[in-house]
Amino acid sequence: MCASVLSDERLVLRIIIPEGLDRAEAELFSQLNPSLLPKHVAIIMDGNGRWANRRHLPRIAGHSKGVQAVRKVVTTASRIGLPALTLYAFSAENFQRRPPTEIRFLMKLLRRYLKADLPLMQDNNVRLSFIGRYQLLSPEVQDCMAWAQEETARNTGMVMTLALNYGSRSEIVDAFKSILETASKNGGLDHLTIDEETISRNLYTCNLPELDLVIRTSGELRLSNFLLWQAAYAEIYVTRKFWPDFSGTDLLEAIADYQQRERRYGGLAESVKKPSSRLRSQ
Ligand code: FPP
Repeated sequence: MCASVLSDERLVLRIIIPEGLDRAEAELFSQLNPSLLPKHVAIIMDGNGRWANRRHLPRIAGHSKGVQAVRKVVTTASRIGLPALTLYAFSAENFQRRPPTEIRFLMKLLRRYLKADLPLMQDNNVRLSFIGRYQLLSPEVQDCMAWAQEETARNTGMVMTLALNYGSRSEIVDAFKSILETASKNGGLDHLTIDEETISRNLYTCNLPELDLVIRTSGELRLSNFLLWQAAYAEIYVTRKFWPDFSGTDLLEAIADYQQRERRYGGLAESVKKPSSRLRSQ
């Protein structure tokens, strides 16, 4: 750890810059409030195809370059101490609607990524997890996922969750099925209480912190069936950059933007809630 000192005439603030950040990242980090980091950031990694298209390359070149962006962002996120990062790697719709050759390539890329990046995950104390109906992926892919998850299971730092064959609506369907199954084993429907807490506890994300920030690359303004329940009060940040161009500094810029937001959860703005000083003195 090294300490940087920012000073003006009135204030000397000591900020601990995490080790391993590059110069630009360290500069951006020094402007953040470290006690207000989001606990859980989720990213819709979009624009690999367009990135490749602009360069007259095949779509798969965009996915390969996208893996490098994953590497950079996971490294920066873990170094700054984010507790949880969730990446929308392949949606259920991607699986149904993309050409089989592209799906095969993405699956190969996933296996290659898990094998190649395991040392980086270990070095950064990252614990890997998965959400989605990944039981429908090939046995080879599932074996590789189980291996990487087991290898990182004892890490205590950031939880990195890959959403694979994931769809938020099917996650909610699965949650209801699991609630009903539990009820049938415990006295049937008469004893069933369904409230928000019960549903949250039965989602794939039950062990993750509340979602604070959703980032989407490539400029589209939609959630695309990603963490719909969890995003109820999350802040949304959209950048026009394509995913392969997204870096650690972009992540820090998104967090800086998040820290400017006033999160009201349906309540009143601080400025409205607090009586003005004139009223207080009356
Ligand atoms: C969206 O771009 C991205 C995907 C469908 C796949 C995301 C995959 C990666 C970032 C690489 C693999 C990741 C891991 C963790 C191995 P798009 O193809 O929809 O782009 P487009 O909208 O421009 O066509």
